[in-house]
Amino acid sequence: MSELSVKHLLGIKYLTEADIQLIFDTATQFKEVINRPIKKVPSLRDITIANLFFENSTRTKLSFELAQKRLSADVINFASSVSSLKKGETLIDTVNNILSMKVDMVVMRHSSPGAASFLAKHVDATIINAGDGAHEHPTQALLDTFSINERLGDVAGKKVVIIGDILHSRVALSNIFALQKLGAEVCVCGPKTLIPKHITSLGVKVETDVNKALKWCDVANVLRVQFERMSASYFPSNREYAAFYGITKPMLDALDKEIIIMHPGPINRGVELSSAVVDSNQAIILDQVENGVAIRMAVLYLLAEKINHAN
Ligand code: CP
Repeated sequence: MSELSVKHLLGIKYLTEADIQLIFDTATQFKEVINRPIKKVPSLRDITIANLFFENSTRTKLSFELAQKRLSADVINFASSVSSLKKGETLIDTVNNILSMKVDMVVMRHSSPGAASFLAKHVDATIINAGDGAHEHPTQALLDTFSINERLGDVAGKKVVIIGDILHSRVALSNIFALQKLGAEVCVCGPKTLIPKHITSLGVKVETDVNKALKWCDVANVLRVQFERMSASYFPSNREYAAFYGITKPMLDALDKEIIIMHPGPINRGVELSSAVVDSNQAIILDQVENGVAIRMAVLYLLAEKINHAN
């Protein structure tokens, strides 16, 4: 297979295992390119991409922008805080105005779940979801599973626990879909208040004891507590969260194997992970960020091929 089955990247839910493997194979080639002295290729020379970020981002926004520039695309950036949305313009009007400037692809982060799918139905451009509320963050899950594959040689058969604020996390849902499609066993772990009630219907295990979860797994993907999405108090204090769910070096050293620690960032140091864990050799957090550029290059390249074939 040399073509994606989808025209947009709206969520991992819509990808096949073959799509994910194709993205990994393409990302492996781009990773080699971005480690050369000349890191740029002309693949997207005729493509114009708009990055629309309606929510804060460091990693995803910079990583997409770098991936686009490495592929020689023309790039425009839009920040909602300084846009005419503040004057009452709708999302569709905003995007259609941007598209009338002959834009081919839109990368969008938005606080509303389903915002990327909504846009894909209403505008004539390729849409890439860079995170929609607590729904999906597909490129994060792709770079996470790519990083597991790189470190462990395979994702199939591996035991992965996703620890923390599952309830408010788009990274959790996209990772569950990606890990399962690639044949991993998935467990979620956190306080009961931060685990969605019907999560077992997705075929994942649930564990509330973090030490048992660490003992079970090969990989722990530790999520940020999403304070900005909380409308109530889900645990008494950060200190209690850190005491019951924070991962420390002595906890890892007590295990009879060396597990891998991942985190999508940004990290609340001392809450989800101690600084000693973040800075240890077991953490592959910066490898995840490095792989993010190659994965996003692969996604952009493969979706641009679909545009070229349609024309
Ligand atoms: N992992 C991630 O989505 O980080 P940003 O919010 O900084 O983009």
